[in-house]
Amino acid sequence: MTEPVRAYRRLLVTGGAGFIGSCYVRDVLGRRDGTEITVLDKLTYAGNEANLAPMTSDPEQAARMTVVIGDIADADLVGPLIGAADAVVNFAAESHVDRSILDPEAFLRTGVIGVHVLLEACRAAPARPRFLQVSTDEVYGSIDQGHAREDDRLEPRSPYAAAKAAGELLVRSYVVTHGLDAVVTRGSNTYGPFHHPEKLIPLFITNAIDDRPLPMYGDGLQRRDWLYVSDHAAGIDAVLRGGATGETYNIAGGVEMANRDTIALLLERLGKPWSLVRQVEDRPGHDRRYAMDGSKLAALGWLPTMDFATGLDATVDWYLENEAWWRAVRSGDWDAYYERQYGSRLRTAT
Ligand code: NAD
Ligand code: DAU
Repeated sequence: MTEPVRAYRRLLVTGGAGFIGSCYVRDVLGRRDGTEITVLDKLTYAGNEANLAPMTSDPEQAARMTVVIGDIADADLVGPLIGAADAVVNFAAESHVDRSILDPEAFLRTGVIGVHVLLEACRAAPARPRFLQVSTDEVYGSIDQGHAREDDRLEPRSPYAAAKAAGELLVRSYVVTHGLDAVVTRGSNTYGPFHHPEKLIPLFITNAIDDRPLPMYGDGLQRRDWLYVSDHAAGIDAVLRGGATGETYNIAGGVEMANRDTIALLLERLGKPWSLVRQVEDRPGHDRRYAMDGSKLAALGWLPTMDFATGLDATVDWYLENEAWWRAVRSGDWDAYYERQYGSRLRTAT
């Protein structure tokens, strides 16, 4: 049976000051259809109010956006915000696999306790909002062959992926036990403007601009499926409006690339040499390949629109044109993180 396409006018977007969340807010407000958004964001090292600047500087959009700084695990704060929303889209998470290996606790606090607080508030709200949990292809673990489908086993292999899988399972339990109207999306590796420079593509672009070494883990033959950020945001919106209660939807980019090949394309666009690349000690438990079947979401009418060459060009151009943004992000605690993550790797690199 086809689900009705729903319209939501008052959205709570948690984690909306991050990379994908801010793109989602930008795209929904940019439709200028009267939708009002409250962003709830803790502004961790990854959250950035500058990501919301394009909306704040547009008076019509600014009038429809409220920003609340706070934690999704704070039940007193979350309750009234959820009570005033027609739908909740939860982007909030610690999102970097390497940091989950160094310091896993915050991943569990936000990914498990935080999600639980949101679900309890939805359950308690007099007019229960629809809840969308933004999850990841990493919950399937490494896919040696073929493409993961939504009913496949969850086999997370990093603390990050385990926390995301736990969050999804909590959502599922609230649908079954409490009749909550909730849906889950599993997106693939996302790239584009406003991406924190700790992740592969923006790290290598910004290091290469400065002629710094590029730390490639292991043989660089790990494969990722790349999804442009506005396509990911559109996929989430398609599921919010048309997804069936209790269902999970893969959002697959359909661009499977070995890391080495992605790095070569970036260097070519920047006019920088391969000699910047250093083969460094691998990430522990490194998933070799991610690949998902996207046909379930295609049946709702969503398909990715950005081809990889155009998306990479747009991304490289954005970092070249927005140095002030990424240099500010690569300040403060950045050097200490970089030394901890890469210091000895780079000193023993080949
Ligand atoms: P991000 O790290 O850029 O943004 C996360 C945002 O959540 C930040 O603004 C941060 O301040 C906020 N946040 C963290 N903990 C919070 C808390 N306790 N309370 C309130 N806000 C909090 O991450 P992203 O790349 O934009 O990812 C967003 C979501 O999409 C995450 O749930 C992630 O697991 C998922 N996802 C990401 C990708 C990807 O490739 N980036 C792919 C699939 C799924
Ligand atoms: O697949 C979806 C996931 O994609 C999201 O759920 C995560 O939030 C997001 O961070 C991303 O996870 P990855 O671990 O795949 O992304 P990352 O950019 O960290 O790494 C991409 C690939 O590049 C991976 O194979 C590891 C490799 N890599 C990464 C870094 C940061 C390197 O070789 N060197 C590096 O310095």
